[in-house]
Amino acid sequence: MRTSLFGLIFLTSSALGYEVKTPPLDTDWTYKVGTDPWPDYPRPQLQRSRWQSLNGIWQWGEGTSESGYPQGIDVLVPSCIESALSGVMQSVRTSWFAREFEVSEDLNRKGYNILINFEAVDYQATVYINDQIAGNNTGGYWRFSFDITDLVKEGTNTLRVDVFDPTDADGYMIPIGKQTLNPSHIFYTPCSGIWQSSWWIPIAEVETNISIPSVPAQYVTQLDVAADMHGTIDVTVTTSKSSKDVVRITVTDDSGKDVAIGKGRANEAFSFKVSSPSLWSPDSPTLYNLTVAVGDDKVASYTGFRTIASGEIDGVKRPLINGEFFFQFGTLDQGFWPDGIHTPPNHEAMVFDIKQLKNLGFNMLRKHIKVENALFYRACDELGILLIQDMPSMPANRLPNADQQKEWERQLDILIEQHKNYPSIYTWIIYNEGWAQIRDYYPEEYLTKRLKSLDPTRLVDSTSGWVDHGYGDWHDNHHYANPQCGAPFYSTPSTPYDRKRIAIQGEFGGIGQNVSEEHLWKVQKAIDTINQTYEIDETIEAWNYRGHVLLSELRDQVEKWACSAAIWTQTTDVEGEVNGLLTYDRRILRPDVDQWKSDIQALKDAAKARNGKK
Ligand SMILES: *[C@@H]1O[C@H](CO)[C@@H](O)[C@H](O)[C@H]1NC(C)=O
Ligand SMILES: *[C@@H]1O[C@H](CO)[C@@H](O)[C@H](O)[C@H]1NC(C)=O
Ligand SMILES: *[C@@H]1O[C@H](CO)[C@@H](O)[C@H](O)[C@H]1NC(C)=O
Ligand SMILES: *[C@@H]1O[C@H](CO)[C@@H](O)[C@H](O)[C@H]1NC(C)=O
Ligand SMILES: *[C@@H]1O[C@H](CO)[C@@H](O)[C@H](O)[C@H]1NC(C)=O
Repeated sequence: MRTSLFGLIFLTSSALGYEVKTPPLDTDWTYKVGTDPWPDYPRPQLQRSRWQSLNGIWQWGEGTSESGYPQGIDVLVPSCIESALSGVMQSVRTSWFAREFEVSEDLNRKGYNILINFEAVDYQATVYINDQIAGNNTGGYWRFSFDITDLVKEGTNTLRVDVFDPTDADGYMIPIGKQTLNPSHIFYTPCSGIWQSSWWIPIAEVETNISIPSVPAQYVTQLDVAADMHGTIDVTVTTSKSSKDVVRITVTDDSGKDVAIGKGRANEAFSFKVSSPSLWSPDSPTLYNLTVAVGDDKVASYTGFRTIASGEIDGVKRPLINGEFFFQFGTLDQGFWPDGIHTPPNHEAMVFDIKQLKNLGFNMLRKHIKVENALFYRACDELGILLIQDMPSMPANRLPNADQQKEWERQLDILIEQHKNYPSIYTWIIYNEGWAQIRDYYPEEYLTKRLKSLDPTRLVDSTSGWVDHGYGDWHDNHHYANPQCGAPFYSTPSTPYDRKRIAIQGEFGGIGQNVSEEHLWKVQKAIDTINQTYEIDETIEAWNYRGHVLLSELRDQVEKWACSAAIWTQTTDVEGEVNGLLTYDRRILRPDVDQWKSDIQALKDAAKARNGKK
């Protein structure tokens, strides 16, 4: 702080309080975020009652952090540092985050273990508590936790996180999805730093008087739950000590009534049954609460009963949900925000997109080469929308070396391990349009097998578009603007429809309509690429007319050929792309709602008429 000659107070950047920067485009939520973002419990599938959010204002600086409590500039956590919401809006490869936190009582002496949790830090993070390393993590989309029991003290503690994120810099091949250091048309602004919630938690629910901190309490570290249409729940409760203690799981219905109790042992798989449960489906997304008790630890979770399979109806391969085929129609959903980049401004904004899709009659979305926070998946489970989840791709126009491929495969396993409990996810995608897909051998062959063994309960779309060698449950064609779904015609580089697999139009549509500058991402470089959009319609009426033509063509392919599912590009505009149902600021909804509802219903009706009929 310094005082000017005129007695006015100027704040230098190091002392300047946090302020949202002006983004190239804002949303109705930008200025409502405040300094207490994402207050909800971040991990709905492993809930504990005592926890402390570390979201809020932290210190931030370029380079690596110095010991103690370094002072930098105020930054909002969670956020991407490149975003306006961060208060920084810069792109740097190496930076640090720091804050202090209080531990108000000696939890340690009471027998609690203390975990620090990060839902996602892009890309590499090294975490220090009171100048000691708690651990590190590689991978920008995954949650990680460190047991910091021995590092925390009663009173004030310092937390520092050093972050390294090269994105697609020369020499790096890491999972990044659509992020790039040089945004242009279909590739966008990158995200670095702590972009999902950060928090700490004491993990003993029952107070004990054990006062030997070197003996860790046994607590649940991971819960794997899969519940099927017959009421069978398959569970593995993994704990911090690989003991065989008794596990007790109570299943509660939505009226709060206990409907079953399952018993088994920790760290080994077991099953139990709920008799005639209400099933989960997009039209009826019934969920059941779970309470899991092991020793002194207790966590809450939830599940939904449903079975996903590939089956044959009247000689056509179909995706079956609870034994039935219905048409699955979704959007390409990128999850980018003009104010938050990878981080939605808030929960309401995040859910707004899903509700818009539901309202138009979409029953699915393809989460495109990005991974969202756990509350997004929880919202899909609750609102009833099926999810196709892509693995974030490495840079599109290069090929990985053996080490880079191995690391990407390690992270593919993490995608499955961390997301296999969500009832809404029904398909995994390994590769998108051949991006970073090695061609001199076919990694998708063994990766499809590996996914099937990690998660036998879902379908795999091994190659979404273009470079297909016959693996996986789906045959996926991408074509713009019109669809070629399960039909006896196709355009290269796609392959002819393969009757042994289920037909999906993994991308089509993509028609654009330019809008006035106030709804555009005001970056000249992005505006200059708008003319690369596959098709631009001059008016919203023309755009809706084209939408009707394309959906009618798709309906024809559902009626006549083997089309089982399709993805419309896309939910929203993103930077230099103006082909969303919604503009990037979510302020204009392009569809004529009645027309789209009726065209989407016609797709579902056409599929229904095919069930068991010629
Ligand atoms: C990260 O931690 C592991 C041990 O958990 C260690 O082997 C590795 O050297 C660490 N990496 C960095 C970059 O600190
Ligand atoms: C812990 O110790 C206190 C005081 O010594 C005692 O009142 C309490 O019952 C003990 N709690 C347990 C769980 O043993
Ligand atoms: C299920 O758990 C959630 C918290 O995860 C809670 O809000 C809800 O009230 C519970 N439902 C019932 C019926 O107990
Ligand atoms: C789109 O609209 C913006 C202003 O709203 C304009 O600057 C740009 O040239 C237009 N681009 C195309 C391809 O129509
Ligand atoms: C698109 O617009 C940019 C900037 O106005 C221009 O340089 C480029 O030639 C245009 N491309 C096409 C295909 O029209």
